[in-house]
Amino acid sequence: MGRKQSVVPLKGPEEIERMRRAGRIVAQVLAELQRHVRPGVTTRQLDKMAEELLRDLGGVPSFKGYYGYPATICASINEEVVHGIPGPRALKPGDIVTIDVGAIWEGYQGDAAITVPVGEVEPRVQALLEATQKALAEGISAARAGRPLGAISHAIESVAKRAGLAVVREYGGHGIGQKMHEPPNVPNWGPAHRGIRLLAGMTLALEPMLTLCKAQTRVLDDRWTVVTVDGCPAAHFEHTIAITEDGAEILTRLLEE
Ligand code: MF3
Ligand code: CO
Repeated sequence: MGRKQSVVPLKGPEEIERMRRAGRIVAQVLAELQRHVRPGVTTRQLDKMAEELLRDLGGVPSFKGYYGYPATICASINEEVVHGIPGPRALKPGDIVTIDVGAIWEGYQGDAAITVPVGEVEPRVQALLEATQKALAEGISAARAGRPLGAISHAIESVAKRAGLAVVREYGGHGIGQKMHEPPNVPNWGPAHRGIRLLAGMTLALEPMLTLCKAQTRVLDDRWTVVTVDGCPAAHFEHTIAITEDGAEILTRLLEE
């Protein structure tokens, strides 16, 4: 807050095509991992599958080595919001797991995340997943050239409010392109009039993080895993999008969707 926003790089058609390719790899990896989420599977097994498939598809994992991050995916279970490190923990029925993946294709990035139920989950947890996915969809619909960035933030926050859920404030979306994190920051809360004007050629990662109780978070001693302070479950959905003259294109969408 209060810092001047640096210049947002606009992408041309060839750059966006590379991001589309990166995004498609991310989408394929997420679709495959989703099929393997079940009780007994460990997040390390999911990470191994992700790295193999991502590289087979011609991509390079973007998270691995990023400030020393050790894996291809982030796997965040229940009260873990984001940046969970894959490990020997096995998923249990009733858990939710957020899988976040980033890929690079010819120097351009794609970044997306889904939160997946493990077997049957409590109805209020299922509602959390649905509302967070809806918040992402509404944020994408609001992302139109000529509007302030705050249109996205406001759309996301409105879905959370209507669902009676809290928005995690310490983390948010971001510009993305040749780097995973470019300007601007994209808050998941705040008034619709705030922020820079969206322009065609901006490429953004939108990523609402909602929780069932309080929004406050802290980072575990592993220096990565972000958890809710009250231990309540959190959900996170993310897409990489490109602003066009005519709405937003989702770059991390599976083609057959
Ligand atoms: N999707 C996350 C983000 O946008 C991924 C970062 S995880 C890291 O911040 F390990 F690469 F930092
Ligand atoms: Co991101």
